[in-house]
Amino acid sequence: MRPLALGAMDVLMWLEGTWVAEFVRVTPWVYSSLEIVHLLGLALLVGPAALFDLRLLGAGRDAISVPTAARRLLPVARAGLAAAAVSGTAMFTSGAKEIASTGAAPVKLVLLVVAGLNIAVFHLGVYRRVGSWDGHRRAPAAARAAGAVSLVTWAGVVACGRLIAYT
Ligand code: HEM
Repeated sequence: MRPLALGAMDVLMWLEGTWVAEFVRVTPWVYSSLEIVHLLGLALLVGPAALFDLRLLGAGRDAISVPTAARRLLPVARAGLAAAAVSGTAMFTSGAKEIASTGAAPVKLVLLVVAGLNIAVFHLGVYRRVGSWDGHRRAPAAARAAGAVSLVTWAGVVACGRLIAYT
């Protein structure tokens, strides 16, 4: 546990006072159900995202094109991210001060932001030109870097999520 800055403390106290936070805190089974949704969400997110990342790094290049892999895998990953974000935010509100003061929570937040920026940079950048490089022996360095950053950041988010309970 670490001390929190005053402005941040006001926001966290406000979050804990919302009706969502109150509902999650006092209603039996809601927190545990949210944890289950959170875990299912992250399975849907991390599994397909990792397969796509591995494809960018060269795995299965003879079996499936990058745009086909994106079309098949990324909608599932997006649905998983939505489920994890909604359930995670609801759990967070219910104990915002305590959760935010753990060592792992801020690291998880930073990694989520890095993962989001990596997705944006990939889709607005090298993926727009996929037609010119799909089918080459190696994807461009920017695409391989996006795959590697994605693998590392999502693994970090999972680790920090689990560590919230212990730090
Ligand atoms: C806006 C997004 C998210 C928020 C606000 C959030 C918040 C939380 C909170 C509050 C907990 C419960 C901590 C506890 O009670 O011990 C948690 C657990 C966890 N989160 Fe997230 N999370 C988010 C997204 C994600 C994503 C995308 C992943 C994975 C890629 C993830 C992985 C985990 C893991 C592995 C746990 C531990 C679950 C358990 O042991 O029961 N979270 N998260």
